[in-house]
Amino acid sequence: MYRTTPPVIRLSDYQPPEFLIDSVQLRLELDPRQTVVEAELRLRRNPAATRGDGDLRLAGEQLELEAIRLNERSLTPAEYQVADDHLRVRRVPDRFRLWTRVRLNPSANTALEGLYVSGDMLCTQCEAEGFRRITYFLDRPDVMATYRVTLIADPERYPVLLANGNPAGEERLADGRLCARWDDPFPKPSYLFAVVAGDLRAVEARFTTASGRQIPLRIYVEPGNEDKCAHAMQSLIRAMRWDEERYGREYDLDVFNIVAVSHFNMGAMENKGLNVFNAKYILARPETATDADFAGIEGVVAHEYFHNWTGNRITCRDWFQLSLKEGFTVYRDQEFSADMGSRGVKRIEDVRQLRARQFPEDAGPMAHPVRPDSYIEINNFYTATVYEKGAELVRMQAHLLGPERFRQATDLYFERFDGQAVTTDDFVGCMESASGVDLTQFKRWYSQAGTPQLDCADRFDAATGTYRLEVRQHTPPTPGQPEKQPLHIPLALGLLDAQGQDLPLRLQGETKAPAPGTRVLELRQPVETFVFTGFEGLGAPPVPSLLRGFSAPVHVSYPYTDAQLGFLMAHDSDGFNRWDAAQTLAQRRLLAMVEEFVQAQAGAGA
Ligand code: SER
Ligand code: ZN
Repeated sequence: MYRTTPPVIRLSDYQPPEFLIDSVQLRLELDPRQTVVEAELRLRRNPAATRGDGDLRLAGEQLELEAIRLNERSLTPAEYQVADDHLRVRRVPDRFRLWTRVRLNPSANTALEGLYVSGDMLCTQCEAEGFRRITYFLDRPDVMATYRVTLIADPERYPVLLANGNPAGEERLADGRLCARWDDPFPKPSYLFAVVAGDLRAVEARFTTASGRQIPLRIYVEPGNEDKCAHAMQSLIRAMRWDEERYGREYDLDVFNIVAVSHFNMGAMENKGLNVFNAKYILARPETATDADFAGIEGVVAHEYFHNWTGNRITCRDWFQLSLKEGFTVYRDQEFSADMGSRGVKRIEDVRQLRARQFPEDAGPMAHPVRPDSYIEINNFYTATVYEKGAELVRMQAHLLGPERFRQATDLYFERFDGQAVTTDDFVGCMESASGVDLTQFKRWYSQAGTPQLDCADRFDAATGTYRLEVRQHTPPTPGQPEKQPLHIPLALGLLDAQGQDLPLRLQGETKAPAPGTRVLELRQPVETFVFTGFEGLGAPPVPSLLRGFSAPVHVSYPYTDAQLGFLMAHDSDGFNRWDAAQTLAQRRLLAMVEEFVQAQAGAGA
């Protein structure tokens, strides 16, 4: 059979949508084999559109179109065309209502995208492009609409019917079926749409927001799992409080629902007001779950909750911007977990993950930038680079701005872009506007793949009391990017005296010595030299503690002696670097022992 190569989608080809959808009314008659979806879309031509032929093209897959009306009038076959992956309506007006009725078969949907069967439940997954398997739609994140949803189902089978937003009534129809209505007043992209139907039990709690609103919180599970939700619920409550305190973000809807599902492609999904989870990130009991399970639940529950602002209220203009929501939200959940437990231990775990999963990605044939330039299948871009390296990019900006200016910058981001679909450049733009820091060069981190290497060398001059540190940066080539540009890198460092105390880090030319401790140096050139002064009384050269807190996703080399590594292990005020020094030393020792063993074997054999 002849198959065409799938098209490559490029960031440089981005065009604003030709049409916008202001509101959506959906009616789903839920059935595992034959679900009927009626959709009424209020559409209008996008004043910002730059091209268009007057036709409307809606994405749709695996749908059987049964009826179509435009402003109440049924369309004749000549007025529209149905293809495998879209519906085209010819010469539409500038403003109109489009009504369609489609039929679909959830039980045949093994892609787990769109509406599918999970055990005895029906549920959805629409990120990235699953909504087109539910109805014909402008299934792209820069089309944001309000949704009113009516769900109809057999109450024996599906006594619980959930969708996004606020509950708007439930009733029995004359034919005995259950009918539930949900309203989501916050405009959202279609990938955040969700529906769940099943015989579920709710575990409930309440949260009072900063402004005093009472929000019922419910975690829905299959019967028998009610006693395994306590930790997830406590994690949710802590996350809601933390987002208010740390980012000034309050929850917006009247209810917040979570559902634990046994069949799920991703870890969890941040659908507006209705987060859907892989059961392993909700269910836990001390008798059967490990510490790592508990930590995983806390982190993922928080992650999905935090998306309500970083992802849902402000979303991605296109899928190249995936890290806009994922990088920032991973950074937020990492910081949350750091605040809830041990900051140092959390940082060690996150860097171990990054080194184990993202560094190899960046060093191999799959290397891609945090904001890719092109893709064939967006589902392949939910990567460690987009998520974890993306989080490091936000962390570096937080380092470059410092905590106060970073908070001002995120406040500005939420204010400027609420209700919009934006880009990583828009995010960095807020960091710049709020702080005055020039991040032009920093933006290369988003478009350049590969892990930079920093080679450090130093010299101490006891007579003049100066310490020179030279840092060379180099990023090896990656597929499609043979030449790399120097990056703007925050290098947090400390210098330890012979007693293991942090020295005050005064750069040459500065009149005042800062308090002893960590200082963030900014690298921009391929080679940078920093000269610290004021060390006249120092008997021995200071020991550098480089890249404290792992302030940038880079490799660092410095010719440490074993004694220096042991010294850092014992004295470094930075927990991450104490651990890292121990790792390096242990690795050296193990390799030396292997070498000795090999030598001894060779000697014995000779
Ligand atoms: N958007 C989802 C999440 O990040 C799926 O990866 O949680
Ligand atoms: Zn996420």
